[in-house]
Amino acid sequence: MAHMMSFPSHTCLLIILFGFIGLTSFPVEAAIKKYQFDIQVKNVSRLCHAKPIVTVNGRFPGPTIYVREGDRVQINVTNHVKYNLSIHWHGLKQYRNGWADGPAYITQCPIQTGSSYTYDFNVTGQRGTLWWHAHILWLRATVYGAIVIMPKPGTPFPFPQPAREFEILLGEWWHKDVEEVEKQGNKMGLPPNMSDAHTINGKPGPLFPCSEKHTYAMEVEQGKTYLLRIINAALNDELFFAIAGHNMTVVEVDAVYTKPFNTEAILIAPGQTTNVLVKANKLASRYFMATRTFMDAPIPVDNKTATAIFQYKGIPNTVLPSLPSLPHLPAGNDTVFALSYNKKIRSLNSAQYPANVPLKVDRNLFLTIGLGKNSCPTCINGTRLVASLNNVTFVMPQTALLQAHYFNNKGVFRTDFPDRPSTTFNYTGAPLTANLGTSIGTRVSKVAFNSTVELVLQDTNLLSVESHPFHLHGYNFFVVGTGVGNFDPSKDPAKYNLVDPVERNTVGVPTGGWTAIRFRADNPGVWFFHCHLELHTGWGLKTAFVVEDGPGQDQSVLPPPKDLPAC
Ligand code: C2O
Repeated sequence: MAHMMSFPSHTCLLIILFGFIGLTSFPVEAAIKKYQFDIQVKNVSRLCHAKPIVTVNGRFPGPTIYVREGDRVQINVTNHVKYNLSIHWHGLKQYRNGWADGPAYITQCPIQTGSSYTYDFNVTGQRGTLWWHAHILWLRATVYGAIVIMPKPGTPFPFPQPAREFEILLGEWWHKDVEEVEKQGNKMGLPPNMSDAHTINGKPGPLFPCSEKHTYAMEVEQGKTYLLRIINAALNDELFFAIAGHNMTVVEVDAVYTKPFNTEAILIAPGQTTNVLVKANKLASRYFMATRTFMDAPIPVDNKTATAIFQYKGIPNTVLPSLPSLPHLPAGNDTVFALSYNKKIRSLNSAQYPANVPLKVDRNLFLTIGLGKNSCPTCINGTRLVASLNNVTFVMPQTALLQAHYFNNKGVFRTDFPDRPSTTFNYTGAPLTANLGTSIGTRVSKVAFNSTVELVLQDTNLLSVESHPFHLHGYNFFVVGTGVGNFDPSKDPAKYNLVDPVERNTVGVPTGGWTAIRFRADNPGVWFFHCHLELHTGWGLKTAFVVEDGPGQDQSVLPPPKDLPAC
């Protein structure tokens, strides 16, 4: 299918489109969906304080993008704030079209204050819940929203049709300006202050002061089934979510259908989405929904509980939520729940939605995740916390990697990112404080077009073990294996699930454990790969894959759009 990025006008495009019908299989119903995103400051009051925050169109959370599979989307982003920024469409594959992906300095230079850029992309072969967020600094704390991709017309969900759908965006809230908080942490070389509240659709709920008015409620009718599209937009916290008195049926994660399973609570890492069905079949009343952090490593977190209301129609707001009033969330450090919950998530793997797991691997990568301390004379302890993959702390370039790759500009990045760590050690043994010779650099891995990659992510006890949700841009991958302790290349691959492993774009590496993923590198471009804990991304827990062009006519990176921002 031709990519029509450079056609001059809407009218002209329509004429050309109609001209092509009959010659191509371009679906008649495919539509162009246009959105205007004005990045602007808005005063928002939460927890008894008002503060200016960066928003899209003055809304918090930002507007939902509604599209259908097959649509072309054009989102004009105009930047009216003092920060240069970019927006990422998290989970959209952007085939050959990294120009629309959005991570600042990876696929584009940020949109400067006073400038605009139109993200122009096709939604192909995907349907479900994804989301968008700012992809620079910590601005995504307030600049985020849902993306809902409906299946093609006439294609039903592979589960009972819900009466209605709701988007549930989980987030974090700071009393202070988030950029000030981040700057302060960087100056000290320490983690910035943790958030002051969690939020559900931007609202913390009545367990927080001055928050009765800032409580989200969703209205349901007795006997009906609802689809909740749950998104973890928090910066640094993996979250549990549950509804008092009501079980949920998980049917989709990261815009991929799963085998349905019932659960009392879900676990969702930053970057991930989870669709659940909920049946309103209990005593008509008001019930709390709640979200709270999961953290099973000795690391302090914001463990405050945000709540919202699951409200049966006809029940007035004055009715107190039914007992037991708070839903039963697993304990904050419940590793057993986390491991068994994640194990239940499997691809639907039906004839219509098969799991095309690569069975043969062309390239094996083994990446260790490490935290460390570098010397920093001006920092509070004389050291700065850093993070690394295979002992490489990634340094952001001054210009965008995708442009450098496309125009073959030398000197911006190196393609010698190590396929494995230089030394092997007992990764998850006793805590190690040694800095294993961490080097810094803008180093990426070059991957041949259409080759299959297996990537094992190994957590280490360098400073501390911790769970890390890793996100790959431009692709979904299959999570073929996971375990606690050190990955054993002689035994663990035999236990892989190559039949119906979950397919997703963000996966947690368990605390002190490992996760193996596979994907086919069929999308040429430069694709960011990073921990979705903003804290760790900032410390350098990231790299990128340069996927080479293929030999075919439609297997190379598209030309950049005319309005691509310059650095
Ligand atoms: Cu949701 Cu690179 O991010």
